[in-house]
Amino acid sequence: MSYRSGTVVLLFLSGLLLPGLLFGAQYALPELPSPALYGNLLMDRASSRGGVKPVSFSHWTHRTRYTCRVCHDELEFDMAVGSTEIDCNDVKDGRYCGACHNGKQAFGRQDNCVYCHTGDIAFRSDQFAGFSRELTPDEFGNQIDWSQMMRRGQIEPLNYLYAKPSETSFEKTLKLDAAWGRIPPAVFPHKEHNQWVGCDTCHPDLFNIRKQGTEHFTMARILKGEFCGYCHLKVAFPINACERCHPGMSR
Ligand code: HEC
Ligand code: HEC
Ligand code: HEC
Ligand code: HEC
Ligand code: HEC
Ligand code: HEC
Repeated sequence: MSYRSGTVVLLFLSGLLLPGLLFGAQYALPELPSPALYGNLLMDRASSRGGVKPVSFSHWTHRTRYTCRVCHDELEFDMAVGSTEIDCNDVKDGRYCGACHNGKQAFGRQDNCVYCHTGDIAFRSDQFAGFSRELTPDEFGNQIDWSQMMRRGQIEPLNYLYAKPSETSFEKTLKLDAAWGRIPPAVFPHKEHNQWVGCDTCHPDLFNIRKQGTEHFTMARILKGEFCGYCHLKVAFPINACERCHPGMSR
C-alpha cells in the first residue's frame, strides 16, 4: 500500500477503525465459550450408543505437554471432533488416547472409566484459574498467549512420541495482502507454527505452497473454518483477535 502524506489522517482513521466496523457489519464473529472451555471437546461418536457417557477432552491441559503434531500427526487424530473412528479397544490396545493413557505416561483405561467418560464439557474447569493465573495473559480464546509461553519457555511440550520429525525447518514470515484496499495485511509466521505443527498439516491441503497461490482465501471462508480458521476458531487464538493477524488493525 502506498499513500500520499496529505491523506494520512483520513487513512489513519479508515485504516484502523473502519475495517473493523465494515467487517463487523458483514460477517458474524463466533460466540466464544469461557476461557476454561475454549478447546474443550465432548467426543460421542460411539459412547452414548455403547451405554457410557461421552468422553471429555481438553486441549489446554494436553497442549502444555505435547505439540499438536504428536496427536494430529503421529497419533492420527483428525482435527474435527467426532470424526476419528476410535473405540475403547483402541484405547486399551495403546492407540489414540491409549498411546499415553496406558498407566505409565498417564492414567490407564482400567478402573478409570469415569475420568474420560465424564459427559461434561466443563470438567476440570475449576482448575483453569489456578493454571492460567501465572501465565501470559491474552484477550481471547483461552486468554493465554500460547506463542509467548513457548518463547519464554513457560511450557516445553514434547514434539514427538516415537520418531523425531525429519522435515527441514522453514522460518519465513509472510505478509499476506488482503483483497480489500485499506485493510492492513495479515502476517503468517512459519516459525511460530512449525513449533506446533508439521508442514503437511497445512501443505498442500489447506494452503498452496506458493505465496498468494491459495485460491478463495477470504475472511468469509476463514470464518467457516477453512484456511486459518481450521485452527483459529477452536483451539489456537480465535478470529476475534484481529490485530494478532493484522498488526496495524484495531477493533
Ligand atoms: C493429546 C492430544 C492432542 C493434542 C496435543 C492436540 N489435539 Fe487437537 N484434538 C485432539 C482430539 C482427540 C480431537 C478430537 C478428534 C475426534 O473427535 O475425532 C482434537 C480436535 C481438534 C480440532 C477440532 C475441534 C472441533 O471442535 O471440531 C482442532 C481444530 C484441533 N484439535 C487443533 C489442535 C491444535 C491446533 C493443537 C495444538 C495447539 C492440538 N489440536 C493439539 C487431540 C489433541
Ligand atoms: C483415556 C480415556 C478413556 C478411558 C479411561 C476409558 N475410555 Fe471408553 N472411550 C474412550 C474414547 C476416546 C472412546 C470413543 C469416544 C467416542 O464416543 O467418540 C471410548 C468409547 C467407549 C465405549 C463406546 C463403545 C466402544 O467400544 O467404543 C464404551 C462402551 C467405553 N468407552 C467404555 C469404557 C469403560 C468401561 C472404561 C473403563 C474400564 C473406559 N471406557 C475408559 C476413552 C476412554
Ligand atoms: C500424547 C499423550 C496423550 C494422549 C494422546 C492423550 N492424553 Fe490425556 N493426558 C495425558 C497426560 C500426560 C495427562 C496428565 C497425567 C494424568 O492425568 O495421568 C493427561 C490427562 C488427561 C485427563 C485428566 C484431566 C486433564 O485434562 O488433565 C483426561 C480426562 C484425559 N487426559 C483424557 C484424554 C482423552 C479422552 C484422550 C484421547 C481422546 C487423551 N487424553 C489423549 C496424555 C495424553
Ligand atoms: C499452519 C500452516 C502452515 C504450516 C504448518 C506451514 N506452512 Fe508454509 N505456508 C503457509 C501459508 C498460509 C502460506 C502462504 C500461502 C498463500 O499465500 O497462498 C505458505 C507458504 C509457503 C511457502 C511459499 C513462500 C513464499 O515466499 O512464496 C513455502 C516455501 C512454504 N510455505 C514452506 C513450508 C514448509 C517447508 C513448512 C514446514 C517446515 C511449512 N511451509 C509449514 C502455511 C503453513
Ligand atoms: C494447523 C493449525 C493452524 C493454522 C491452519 C493456522 N494457525 Fe496460526 N497458530 C496456530 C497455533 C497453534 C498458534 C500458537 C498460538 C495459539 O495457539 O493461540 C498459532 C499462532 C499464530 C500467530 C501468533 C504468532 C505469535 O508470534 O504470537 C499468528 C499471527 C497466526 N497464528 C496467524 C495465522 C494465519 C494468518 C493463518 C492462516 C494463513 C494461520 N495462523 C493458520 C495454529 C494454526
Ligand atoms: C488467524 C488470522 C486472522 C485473524 C485473527 C483475522 N484475519 Fe482477517 N485476514 C486474514 C488473512 C490471511 C487474510 C487475507 C487472505 C488473502 O491472502 O487474501 C485476511 C483478510 C481480511 C480482510 C480482507 C477481505 C477478505 O475477506 O479477505 C478483511 C476485511 C479482514 N481480514 C478483516 C479482519 C477482521 C476485522 C478481523 C477481526 C475480527 C480479522 N480479519 C481477523 C487472517 C486473519
